[in-house]
Amino acid sequence: MKVAPSVLSADFGNLQRDIEAICKAGCDFVHVDVMDGHFVPNLTIGPVVVSAIAKCATKPLDIHLMVENNTFFVDLFAPLKPEYISFHIEEEKHPHRLIQKIRSLGIKPAIVLNPHTPPEAIEYLLQDLDMVLLMSVNPGFGGQSFIESVIPKAKRLSAMRDKINPKCLIEVDGGVSDKNIHMLKDAGVDIVVAGSYVFNHSNKKEAIESLQI
Ligand code: DX5
Ligand code: ZN
Repeated sequence: MKVAPSVLSADFGNLQRDIEAICKAGCDFVHVDVMDGHFVPNLTIGPVVVSAIAKCATKPLDIHLMVENNTFFVDLFAPLKPEYISFHIEEEKHPHRLIQKIRSLGIKPAIVLNPHTPPEAIEYLLQDLDMVLLMSVNPGFGGQSFIESVIPKAKRLSAMRDKINPKCLIEVDGGVSDKNIHMLKDAGVDIVVAGSYVFNHSNKKEAIESLQI
């Protein structure tokens, strides 16, 4: 299991210190939550802060867009060369076109599904994706409780993935901790995002390692 700590739970007054700490503690990716105050009821960070994060991160960025105008934000963040850019299927009229665009920029495309969206919504996109991100909370805030229905959903997606595109990874985001990591692993999940669990832990290395099962 790979681990992508969510910067949303970092101390923004000490962002460089916290980014360096999670990278040193052995995380696999740095998860960056971009919210525009429209698609979700919260506003986070834009290109100035994300480029500061990119400068001090020694692990690849996993940028999670929670915005209305996906194409505009893909163009803004592409120069930072993240490993992944993920966008919500609920907010995109032309997801196939956007996947092609992200790939043409040399970035791995990923799609995010909100808790209510079935895996079948992306059946015909799966073959073109590098990753699918399943939300296990409603997007917008860190520190929420894990929505259990993501487990059967991950199992269903995992079966679809094995048939259609075995290389496509499954990521889960929201309320992840040492309490649910084994269920997620058994359901076929490859990467977890963890915000409050990692940043509120007294030992970040221990927290990250407890999820790298
Ligand atoms: C929620 C974000 C998550 C969140 C995870 O919209 O996408 O990445 O920050 O935080 P925790 O792990 O605290 O639920
Ligand atoms: Zn996220």
